[in-house]
Amino acid sequence: VSSSLPEVGVGIVGYGIMGRAHAYAYAAAPRIRDLPCRPRLRLMSGRDGGAVAEAARRYGVEEATTDWRALVEHPDVDIVDVCTPPGTHAEIVAAAAAAGKAVLCEKPLAADYAHAARAVAAVREAGVPNAIGFNYRRLPALALMRQMVADGRVGEPLLLRASFLSDEFLDPTIPFDWRFERAMGGTTISDLGAHLVDFALWMVGDIAEVSAQSQTFTRERPQVDSDARREVEVDEASSAIVSFASGARGTFEMARTCARRPCDFSVEVNGTSGTLRFDYQNLNELWYGDGAEPGELYGMRRIRAEHESHPYAAQWWPIGQGVGYDASFVNQVADHLERWPDGDWTPDLETGLRVQAVCEAMERSAAQRRWVAVAEVQGT
Ligand SMILES: NC(=O)c1ccc[n+]([C@@H]2O[C@H](COP(=O)([O-])OP(=O)(O)OC[C@H]3O[C@@H](n4cnc5c(N)ncnc54)[C@H](O)[C@@H]3O)[C@@H](O)[C@H]2O)c1
Repeated sequence: VSSSLPEVGVGIVGYGIMGRAHAYAYAAAPRIRDLPCRPRLRLMSGRDGGAVAEAARRYGVEEATTDWRALVEHPDVDIVDVCTPPGTHAEIVAAAAAAGKAVLCEKPLAADYAHAARAVAAVREAGVPNAIGFNYRRLPALALMRQMVADGRVGEPLLLRASFLSDEFLDPTIPFDWRFERAMGGTTISDLGAHLVDFALWMVGDIAEVSAQSQTFTRERPQVDSDARREVEVDEASSAIVSFASGARGTFEMARTCARRPCDFSVEVNGTSGTLRFDYQNLNELWYGDGAEPGELYGMRRIRAEHESHPYAAQWWPIGQGVGYDASFVNQVADHLERWPDGDWTPDLETGLRVQAVCEAMERSAAQRRWVAVAEVQGT
């Protein structure tokens, strides 16, 4: 990596799973892509001084601090990368924008629509580059799926079906943490569903109306620091039917109570002339059925989304070697750094807000047992 390139200082807020994934991505990006600048992992923040210092050392970040505001205001930090729970995002994004820093914020944008709107207002007012962490868009197969839908390979989309299944909450002995607290973790709809809703808006367009149901099977959980049990404030499993502005229809399921399903998501679009389906378990493949083909070829073909003509594929390994979860984060930061300092970042926080509106409409629908228009949440 040439040292003659201008440096871009990165500060990562939070050192959990996403802090690790993002730090890895900044380190790997210059080795995968030719970039106009060199990211420098300058600072990492967390509440536990010893733990954040150890994480910074392991992830290759120069310094650690327990004060996220000091990170945001540090003169060497150009990009504030927010990897903390959703309930903290809006305040950190607003402070970073006010300090004139570019912002990459993990999904969901916030724990509710009102806070998400505040984050968007802050970046809009400051005019800083901003992006939401919908990393899965950057998997070659999903990027190819979106491109094929946009190119009309399935005709007009009629139906979208998406599900995200995990077993994260199945065990009732898992102690209460931020994921079970509504104001900090949001909901299963916004945590897992945000990715699915993003795919839907990206591939098929705006969602007009939703009807959802939610269930929480384990209503109380043990606490680590007390004998009293604490009430779980979030849905563990939800599903929704939706209507798109185009007239297309969709179904969504997001659940964290599915035994032996680790992080299994899928998305399928059925159009007037074809079908496309992606399954994360086989993340370098795409299934395609082309209604224009002769009857003897009736069925779905498996596309290996690793050909040099496919999005991102040529930047990685020779065909047949595959890419993984890590590649989605590397592609994400490389796409941003490639446009540094002037280009627009995409998807931006505005996209995160549009997704949050649909999630909140689903939450409201489940709570009130009625169809909810997304415009009702947006106040328009
Ligand atoms: N894009 C993806 O694939 C993906 C995957 C997992 C998580 N996420 C998102 O990333 C964000 C962080 O998730 P994670 O899995 O890295 O979480 P984590 O629990 O592993 O880490 C959370 C970090 O935030 C800090 N923190 C700050 N305030 C906190 C509070 N009040 N309670 C608990 N921790 C607090 C913790 O110290 C820790 O460093 C969330 O918004 C989550 O939805 C995205």
